[in-house]
Amino acid sequence: MPMDILLGLQWGDEGKGKVVDVLAPTYNVVARFQGGPNAGHTLVHDGVKHVLHQVPSGIFHAQILNVIGNGVVLDPVVFCKEIDGLLARGLQPVHNLVLSRKAQLIVPTHRLLDAASEAQKGDAKIGSTLRGIGPAYQDKYARAGLRVGDVLRADFADRYAQLKKAHLVVLDHLSHDLEALPELEANWFAAVERLRAFRIEDTEYLLNDALAQGQKVLAEGAQGSLLDIDFGSYPYVTSSSTMAAGACTGLGVAPRHVAEVFGIFKAYCTRVGAGPFPTELHDATGEQIRRQGHEFGSTTGRPRRTGWLDLPALKYACMLSGVTQLMMMKADVLAGMEPIEVCTAYRLDGRTTTYYPAGPEAAEVTPIYTQRPGWPTSATPGHFEQLPNGLRQYVSYLEAETGLPITLISNGPDRVDTVLRF
Ligand code: IMP
Repeated sequence: MPMDILLGLQWGDEGKGKVVDVLAPTYNVVARFQGGPNAGHTLVHDGVKHVLHQVPSGIFHAQILNVIGNGVVLDPVVFCKEIDGLLARGLQPVHNLVLSRKAQLIVPTHRLLDAASEAQKGDAKIGSTLRGIGPAYQDKYARAGLRVGDVLRADFADRYAQLKKAHLVVLDHLSHDLEALPELEANWFAAVERLRAFRIEDTEYLLNDALAQGQKVLAEGAQGSLLDIDFGSYPYVTSSSTMAAGACTGLGVAPRHVAEVFGIFKAYCTRVGAGPFPTELHDATGEQIRRQGHEFGSTTGRPRRTGWLDLPALKYACMLSGVTQLMMMKADVLAGMEPIEVCTAYRLDGRTTTYYPAGPEAAEVTPIYTQRPGWPTSATPGHFEQLPNGLRQYVSYLEAETGLPITLISNGPDRVDTVLRF
């Protein structure tokens, strides 16, 4: 069987958790391929809201195998907190969870380095989640990092000490406060001890064997395409490959196994942290979207910046990942707004362009908008034909523009408000 990929097409927070929750029961394996505790996938299980940071979203289903892939950076402390939260819900997330031996470990000094680096940048700071993501990936590519499999080695403490020593040189140079370190380290070593009890394997074999045996694998992305290390609004990006290609390298599965690529987007745009956001609204409409959409970060609680849908950016993300199906979230948030605006192109240096400028010039573009009819506030049942006329027109318009089917429309927080068209 093939591997399908689910990923965000904007700046993260598109509602991937809700979609995985709908799709997961049809898969045998759900695998996270990049990112780490900077992610926050919100799921509702038995009526209770649950935010997952590193554990794949299939964990609520005992029959699904959940894999934390080699492309992930794992913080053992956050991981153990997630596990405790799941245990408290009566789940047994031990047998159906496997960690890649090759995933990188986030160590306590990575968090301190993240904070020190952001402080150093002053006004140019990225707005990082400060979870140590950037420094951990830095060490991975510098070939200096610790991997999950290392926790099983006899020389683990020595390797840790060596890495910490290198970090302390930098932290000392940046005059960063180390007061929190002893407590962070004590918690970290306690969590590492617990990590040893989990299945730690070469998950690329496990995944390829599963595919060869006819099992269905869903690769679960974190963050969004516009935060991609190569193609996002650099340098205001995360440190991993958030596109479909990242699923192949982040899991060790060849591109020929990939079938569907589900691209998740919101009916409007949001962004947390700094960086260009061409369609950002600084007015009452932006505030209304934030309020109606409860747009506050699930990892950091920060208010999200809000704006209209950006079509050039959406098309760019679809192109980069070879998206085969679109899934539109939070359509209900736009209900009652008239008209609804959609950015179709940009003005840049006196020219009109439909290319997404994923560099500093993204801050210099002026969006060109088209107006679309809105739709009234209304509770909607689960059939496309029963959606308000304006919303159906919005869907058809976006399908025509992207050339892709929108196979899921989320029109409210409840599962019953999800319209499926596949
Ligand atoms: P980092 O990945 O924590 O270094 O953060 C880099 C940038 O990506 C910041 O602007 C963050 O706000 C943003 N970011 C990281 N993870 C997420 C996410 O899961 N959702 C939305 N934004 C994110």
